[in-house]
Amino acid sequence: MEPFIEQVLISEEIIQAKVKDLGKKISEDYLDKGEIRAIGILRGAFIFMADLVRNIKVPLSVDFMSISSYEDDCETTGVVRILKDLDKPITNRHVLIVEDIVDTGLTLKHLKEVLATRNPASLKVCALLNKKEKRVVKDLVIDYCGFDIPDRFVVGYGLDFAERYRNYPFIFILKPEYYQKPGQV
Ligand code: IMP
Repeated sequence: MEPFIEQVLISEEIIQAKVKDLGKKISEDYLDKGEIRAIGILRGAFIFMADLVRNIKVPLSVDFMSISSYEDDCETTGVVRILKDLDKPITNRHVLIVEDIVDTGLTLKHLKEVLATRNPASLKVCALLNKKEKRVVKDLVIDYCGFDIPDRFVVGYGLDFAERYRNYPFIFILKPEYYQKPGQV
């Protein structure tokens, strides 16, 4: 095992099985609706998005948005900024937001509000991970949810700490001494 891993929380096999299930459920739900516009939230959702869309068996197009709510740190700032907007309009589209993780829920709440003003035909959310303990937005709906996880900072499978560890195919907790920004290590 890599020296920086404290604990593997979700293995590659379990993630892949869950992504398959989510894709199946989404495919069934959208069968009669028409094309899905899947919106991946960069950068954390890029791997999940790539795996998920390959398990969705209805017509689908993709777009990406980049949002900032954490600045290289484990603490939420409460500030949500759009760093990169969608390339295409979503008017009358069946939009599926694909998120890596929902924590306080502030990012997703803001995102849903912004996208709802653009008059999509429908707006749903698929999030791989759900940390409920620190939820600030209590009434947030996650239509498709992969795993409920405890309130620990996790990395891997697209999720980072200071831009590192996105490339590991499983989700894990870092040893405390590795929660240091580059340059401090
Ligand atoms: P929220 O606005 O507090 O729900 O935070 C959502 C965003 O924070 C996610 O899209 C991630 O970018 C980031 N985030 C929250 N928890 C974690 C974590 O455990 N690991 C990596 N990123 C996280």
